[in-house]
Amino acid sequence: MSLKLIRTNTAEEAGAVAADIFEEQLKKKKDSVLGLATGSTPLPLYRELIRREKEGIIDFSEVKTFNLDEYKGLAPDHPQSYRRFMQENLFDHINIRPENTHVPQGLAVDPTAMCIGYDDMVRQAGLDIQLLGIGHDGHIGFNEPDICFPKFTHEVQLTSMTIEANARFFDSIDDVPKAAFTMGIGTIMTAKKIVMVVSGADKAGIMFDLLHGPVTPQLPASIIQFHNDVVVIGDHAALSRI
Ligand code: PGA
Repeated sequence: MSLKLIRTNTAEEAGAVAADIFEEQLKKKKDSVLGLATGSTPLPLYRELIRREKEGIIDFSEVKTFNLDEYKGLAPDHPQSYRRFMQENLFDHINIRPENTHVPQGLAVDPTAMCIGYDDMVRQAGLDIQLLGIGHDGHIGFNEPDICFPKFTHEVQLTSMTIEANARFFDSIDDVPKAAFTMGIGTIMTAKKIVMVVSGADKAGIMFDLLHGPVTPQLPASIIQFHNDVVVIGDHAALSRI
């Protein structure tokens, strides 16, 4: 294992440190393959990447991206779909080619075939960096606590904890989809480098369990202890128990 922990004062600063890693990667390889994430945590990073692209510091014209997950049943333009989130918070503001951005299809007619196809595409492209957030229950992507680590992109039923956590983005909790598609833990672990960004006091407990506890599918993110190139960037609040 090689896990580097970087502590920052604020969530904004954590985003800037993560942006430095992405910048270095894009300078090293113009056609890098980036695994991306949604949620509140990556927003400072995405704002920073947009700023650096506008200033000509980084260039996305040859970059390919693959997102971790998408809600089942939401159209790409649904206000809460992860495709729309990515358009609004990153893709629409940078010089990436639309055809180079990939998010699992929420409306797939044949979900099994979509998942297999998505997984194949990710593995063939080869993730240079996978960005991760972490859920309060230790999920990464939508890989919820389970009895095993799922290997491939697959459909999941969301836990009540995740549905409650994500209800803040919907009009009512009943509107939150109950299922989603996510890269598997195996898919995530194929990335050459993993960058986890975490912020806020509400993540202090799960960060303690993640970094001090055993590797177990009951805490899916714990698998990163087995990866050989991980950087965890957290603000003081999230890392207060480390
Ligand atoms: P958050 O979500 O960044 O909105 O806290 C993280 C996650 O659930 O993976």
